[in-house]
Amino acid sequence: MRFTPEQTHAIERRKGDMLLDAGAGSGKTTVLVERFARAVVEDNIDVGAILTITFTEKAAAELRERIRTRLRAVSDDSAAHATEGAWISTIHGFCARVLRTHALTAGLDPNFTVLDEHEANELQNAALDAALTELARVEEGADLIAAYGPRALRSAITDTYGELRARGQLRPQLPTSAQVDHARLTGARSAERCRAELLQLAAAVSRELAAVAEPGKQVQQAIAAMDRVRRVLAGGVPWPGELDRIKLPGGTANALRTETCGDYRATLEELRVLAAQDHALAMLDTLDVLLRGYGERYAQLKRERSGLDFEDLELMAREVLKRKDIGRRYRERFARVMVDEMQDTNRVQLELIDLIAGVDLFMVGDAQQSIYGFRHADVELFEQRGQKLAQIGARSSLQTNFRSRAEILTAINAAFSWALGDNFRPLLPSPQEQSTVRTQQEPLV
Ligand SMILES: Nc1ncnc2c1ncn2[C@@H]1O[C@H](COP(=O)(O)OP(=O)(O)OP(=O)(O)O)[C@@H](O)[C@H]1O
Ligand SMILES: [Mg+2]
Repeated sequence: MRFTPEQTHAIERRKGDMLLDAGAGSGKTTVLVERFARAVVEDNIDVGAILTITFTEKAAAELRERIRTRLRAVSDDSAAHATEGAWISTIHGFCARVLRTHALTAGLDPNFTVLDEHEANELQNAALDAALTELARVEEGADLIAAYGPRALRSAITDTYGELRARGQLRPQLPTSAQVDHARLTGARSAERCRAELLQLAAAVSRELAAVAEPGKQVQQAIAAMDRVRRVLAGGVPWPGELDRIKLPGGTANALRTETCGDYRATLEELRVLAAQDHALAMLDTLDVLLRGYGERYAQLKRERSGLDFEDLELMAREVLKRKDIGRRYRERFARVMVDEMQDTNRVQLELIDLIAGVDLFMVGDAQQSIYGFRHADVELFEQRGQKLAQIGARSSLQTNFRSRAEILTAINAAFSWALGDNFRPLLPSPQEQSTVRTQQEPLV
């Protein structure tokens, strides 16, 4: 295999951090494998002193095989053999290894089991059932369940819980309504004040309409709507939907196009927004009770089985590695840290990588392949990191695509540049492909 000049650059520049951000099938993992081999052969680094991380079990097994094959080709058998126990794994595999070694420090049973997605889901469902049953016993809880529907509420809670843990919260909780209210009301009007103003405006509109000599149908409808205002607003801030009953009809009648009518309509819409926020706010504390109730039960069910889910692995390994003595030991142990599929990292995983990486961190990824938000991945973080490294000339890209035929690439480029606009990076076919396409097309020209 002949490396392209871009690949050669990314392979040979092994001092300092570097991010290789390139499209699908452009030979990124090939570069990572080659850097591993050169680190062993040219830089005399032990196979055991290189940490390589990727994001699925399948990718990790493939990567180990590719590294072994390459080492066998360029080095002696012992280096290839050493890949057996090497640190080539998923981030969760790495975390589990760290936690087994430091189980005591982490306060864990060293024989903990790692729950797969299916097992974790079962426990989550049981925890959620119990938390919802408990919540339904109090009035606000029953209201919340009725308002959202159990199914929407279930996914809202598990998604929020997962997202907050991926952002690093050990015991997820929502902001209190008081905190949100305080932030929201800085400079904004309260729904209560808006309601009082609407009552006054309704009275003014009523006075204007009462003076109309021969009220038409629309004006009569408007008078009826204004008569309902007191009742609708009597019990405090109403639900947004109730405000439909006190809308002024549009219409062409001059009496409905006065300044007072305009003010009434604007204030009504403002109240609709504020009322929605107010009711959501009232639910926030109840949602938090549900979220925490769920979290506690889920944690308890895991404890009973000595089971850890993927987020536990990450969060607990992070705590262990944050300890200065332990963190330093890992940073000293790994001369090189390499991460494939970096676009799939979330905040906690990135923190973990930074905790173990010393100076020469090599990251590979493709922002365009992260549109699915794998496991709360946060592609923004990847982009930010890329921008920072670009400023010091430590970001590279690869333009050639080795996997696909030129015609397919042309179609893909057209489709995606339309869908993704300026963010899209077109793929180029490999030199061999370019020449095949030319030969195939020649008779046609
Ligand atoms: N310089 C090269 N010449 C010929 N083939 C190459 C070259 N570099 C990589 N390839 C081949 O291209 C294919 C894709 O390479 P690789 O898996 O490294 O790409 P990738 O960018 O990591 O892909 P993905 O985005 O799917 O992770 C592989 O079959 C690889 O052997
Ligand atoms: Mg790859």
